[in-house]
Amino acid sequence: VSRILLLGGKGRLGAMLARKWGERHEVRSLARPEVDVSDLPALKALLEGSSYDILLNGTALTNVDRCESDRYEAQTVNALAPKLMSEDAAAKGARFIHISTDYVFDGVKGSAYSESDPGNPMSHYGRTKLEGEDFTLQAAPQHLVFRVSWVFGPDKPSFVDMIVDRSIKGEKLEAIADKTSSPTFSADVAEWIEPFFDPALPGGLFHACNSGSCSWREWGEHALRKARELGVPVTSTEIRPIGLADMKAFVAPRPPHTEMSVAKLAQATGFPPRSWQEAVDDYLQQKFS
Ligand SMILES: NC(=O)c1ccc[n+]([C@@H]2O[C@H](COP(=O)([O-])OP(=O)(O)OC[C@H]3O[C@@H](n4cnc5c(N)ncnc54)[C@H](OP(=O)(O)O)[C@@H]3O)[C@@H](O)[C@H]2O)c1
Repeated sequence: VSRILLLGGKGRLGAMLARKWGERHEVRSLARPEVDVSDLPALKALLEGSSYDILLNGTALTNVDRCESDRYEAQTVNALAPKLMSEDAAAKGARFIHISTDYVFDGVKGSAYSESDPGNPMSHYGRTKLEGEDFTLQAAPQHLVFRVSWVFGPDKPSFVDMIVDRSIKGEKLEAIADKTSSPTFSADVAEWIEPFFDPALPGGLFHACNSGSCSWREWGEHALRKARELGVPVTSTEIRPIGLADMKAFVAPRPPHTEMSVAKLAQATGFPPRSWQEAVDDYLQQKFS
C-alpha cells in the first residue's frame, strides 16, 4: 500500500486516478478550493506539511487557447508548480509523478514520436508543459513524466461524449480529419502508472496513451458505430470532415500529427497498452450499460 498525495483530484484524469488507486492505496486527493497550485507559497507550505510515498500532479491549465493570453498563470501552473512539487518529493526521497502532453511536439515528424525525440512546442501551453517536464526530470532520477493525449473517461465529458450526444440529438456532425493523435482512456492510465509505485521500476519519461492513432473524425465515427451496436439511438454514424485550417476560433497553433509510441512503457511494465479502439469500446460499454 502506497501513501499517495494527489493534486488536481477533480480533473478528467485526476478524478479517475484518485478513485481507482483509492481501492488499493491510501489516497489523499485535493482539488480546489483546498489547493490552488498557482499560489506557490501556499503550495509549498501544503507540501512541506505533508508526508507521502507518491506525489501525483493532475493539475494543469489545459485550455490551450487560454494559455496564449494568460501566460503568467500558464507558466505558474504548468511549470513552476510542478517544479515545487518535484523539489518537495526529492527532499523527502519520494517519487513525483507528473502528467504531460503530446503538445510538446510540433507534429510534423511523419511517424510516431518516441521519448527520445526532442520537443518543439508550437504553443505557450506546449512550452510551459515542456518546462514542467524538464524541472521534474532534473529534480530527481526517480521522478516520472507520463505524456498523454486526447484524454477521455467518465469524469468529465470529452470529444467522444460530445459526438455521441450530438448524434443522439440529430445535430450536424463535423470533425477535423487532418489532425491525428493517440486517444487515452483515463482508466487505462491508472493501470499503466500503478506499477511505478514500486521504486524498483525506473524513473524518467514515458508516453502513456492507447496504441495506434486516428483523426478526430475517425475517433468519432468509431465511437458512433460502437454506440449504435450498443443500442444507443444515434441518428448517424458519419461525420463530415473538416480541416484544421477551418478552425478559425483556434488561437494557438495545434501540432498536426502527434501519434506517440508506447514501446518504452510496454517494456517497463511488461504489458502493452491496448488499442484506442478497444479502449473506446470499453468506455462506451461502461457508459451505456
Ligand atoms: N485532456 C486532454 O486531452 C489532455 C491531452 C494531453 C495532456 N493532458 C494532460 O493531462 C493532465 C490532466 O488533464 P485533464 O485532461 O484531467 O484536464 P482537466 O480536467 O482540465 O484537469 C486539470 C485540473 O487542474 C485543475 N487546476 C487548474 N489550475 C489549478 C490551480 N491553479 N490550482 C488547483 N487546481 C488547478 C483544474 O481545476 P479547475 O477545473 O478548477 O480549473 C482541473 O481539475 C494535464 O497535465 C494535461 O496537461 C490532457
